[in-house]
Amino acid sequence: MSATLLQGKELSLQIQSEIADKVKALTAAGGKVPHLAAVLIGNNGASETYVDHKVKACEKVGFKSTLVRHDDTISEGDLLRVVDELNENDDIDGFIVQLPLPKHIDVNKVIEAIKPSKDVDGFHPINFGRMAGNMPAYIPATPDGIIEMLKRYKIETTGKHTVVVGRSQIVGTPVSILLSRAAYPGDSTVTLCHRHTKDLASFTKSADILVVATGIPGMISGDMVKEGVVVIDVGITRVEDKSRKSGYSLKGDVDFDSVAPKASYITPVPGGVGPMTIASLLKNTFLAAEKAIYKG
Ligand code: GUN
Repeated sequence: MSATLLQGKELSLQIQSEIADKVKALTAAGGKVPHLAAVLIGNNGASETYVDHKVKACEKVGFKSTLVRHDDTISEGDLLRVVDELNENDDIDGFIVQLPLPKHIDVNKVIEAIKPSKDVDGFHPINFGRMAGNMPAYIPATPDGIIEMLKRYKIETTGKHTVVVGRSQIVGTPVSILLSRAAYPGDSTVTLCHRHTKDLASFTKSADILVVATGIPGMISGDMVKEGVVVIDVGITRVEDKSRKSGYSLKGDVDFDSVAPKASYITPVPGGVGPMTIASLLKNTFLAAEKAIYKG
C-alpha cells in the first residue's frame, strides 16, 4: 500500500483563504476586524515559533493581533491580572495563553481565569464541558484541526476503531471525545492509551485510525500498525541535527519511514497537523468576533 499524504499545510492555506474572504465580507458589512491576542511567557524556542506562526497567520487573513510578552519570572498573580485585562478589553475578541507555563504558575488557575467567550483555545472547563456534551463550544485547535482534516479528505470514521496514544488535556483527551461523538467525523470506537497502557502494540495494531500525541519521537514503528491504517501524527519534537543551519530538525511521534508503507493515509511532520492547528485557531477567533457561540 502506498499512503496518501494528508497535506495539512495546503489545507490550512485553503482554510485561511476562506477565512480571509469572510473577514472581507464581515468588515464590508460594517463588522469589526477580528482581533486575537497571544500571551507568551519566557523564551521557550518552540513556543516562540508557534506564537510567531499564529501572529503571522492573523496578519495574512486580515485579523488584528497583539502579542503580550512577559519574562518567565512573572508571578502567578501578575499573569492572572494580564488575563483579566484581556478579558475586559472590548477590542480583543479572543486570546490564548501559550503553554507550557513556568512551573511556579498553576496552569489550571490561568485557564479558569480566561472568560469562556474569549477562550479561543477551548481549554476552559466550560468550553471543554460543552464540547463533551456536543453543545456549541470552541474546540481546542489541534483536535479541531484533526477533525477538519479527516472531514476534508472524506475519511470514513463511523464504526472504525480509533486508537489515541497520549491523554493530554490539549490533544489526546479532546480527540478521544470528538472521535467518539455522535457526529461525522466521529461515531468511532475509541481506545485511549497512555503511559500505563500494557502492551501498547496490541492496541495500535488493531487501529483503523491511529492518533499519536505523546511527544516521544519515533515511538510508533511499522511493526506496531496494520495495513491500511490512517495515521495522524501530532508529535513535533526538535531533535539535534548538525546538518541543519538551525541545529535541529522536527520529528514526529511516528517513525514515518517504516509506518508510511503500511498506511492508507498519513500526516507528514512537519506540514501535517501543525498548520491545521493554526487554521482552527483562526476559525475560533472568527467565531468569537462574530459572537457565534457566546451571544452578546
Ligand atoms: N502549547 C502547545 N499547543 C498549544 C495550543 O494549542 N495552545 C496553547 N495555548 N498552547 C499550546
